[in-house]
Amino acid sequence: MNKFSGKVALVTGAAGGIGAAIVQRLRAQGAIVAVSDRDVAGIKADARLPGDLLDPAFTDGLPAAVHNTLGRLDIVVNNAGVITRGPVTETTDADWALSLGVNVEAPFRICRAAIPLMAGSGGGAIVNIASCWGLRPGPNHAVYCMTKAALASLTQCMGMDHAHQGIRINAVCPNEVNTPMLRTGFAKRGFDPDTAIADLNKTVPIGRIAEPEDIADVVAFLASDAARYVVGACIEVNGGKPVS
Ligand SMILES: NC(=O)c1ccc[n+]([C@@H]2O[C@H](COP(=O)([O-])OP(=O)(O)OC[C@H]3O[C@@H](n4cnc5c(N)ncnc54)[C@H](O)[C@@H]3O)[C@@H](O)[C@H]2O)c1
Repeated sequence: MNKFSGKVALVTGAAGGIGAAIVQRLRAQGAIVAVSDRDVAGIKADARLPGDLLDPAFTDGLPAAVHNTLGRLDIVVNNAGVITRGPVTETTDADWALSLGVNVEAPFRICRAAIPLMAGSGGGAIVNIASCWGLRPGPNHAVYCMTKAALASLTQCMGMDHAHQGIRINAVCPNEVNTPMLRTGFAKRGFDPDTAIADLNKTVPIGRIAEPEDIADVVAFLASDAARYVVGACIEVNGGKPVS
């Protein structure tokens, strides 16, 4: 299926669980994909742009780097993210700077640089990976929830502001997804990730937490022309599980 034939996409956090599935899906559907992460050596892609999203010069320059390397930029997926846990009383200055830097400032910088490039070639699509927890907060992840709420709000605002340029900006809001982010979180707290995920599966009305591909398919939909009238939306992909 070549629904993205000739389209150039940038995916951040491409070495992670959801990022890898997004890259695979977009490429399988014909897109030319540039990947970014701190280490991109092992990723099959059309361009590899390693770097730290906390470096403003790198992040500001990323859309232009894709444009220069692959000739255009049609799709941006701001997927990279970090999770810091705990209430604010256990949140360090370093947690705050990291969370705001990766989850909010980097997508802001990338969108700010990508939008004029996309507008110059008639439009495009941006998909931000927020979280259900950014729409309704869960316990003991105060700063993470706040950053995802900020990204959801930024998405709604940018969606309205740039639709007239032919750029559709939307967010995907997953609940729990079976990725290194989730598994390492369990391991750090002393739980066996497989057992913890088996328990978590029982809490989801559809019977299991999401696999990265469940999220990647919705990203691909939002990036595609099938979503041509979807603007500024925050789409929950949660298997029916409410935030509790
Ligand atoms: N896994 C879940 O349960 C879940 C639920 C809701 C939302 N999300 C969101 O989905 C997105 C992807 O998460 P995932 O579960 O695949 O996580 P992951 O940890 O597997 O992948 C995240 C990727 O982001 C990259 N990254 C982090 N900081 C970076 C930096 N400073 N510079 C460059 N790259 C950096 C990491 O190297 C990693 O490859 C995140 O935004 C996350 O918040 C995940």
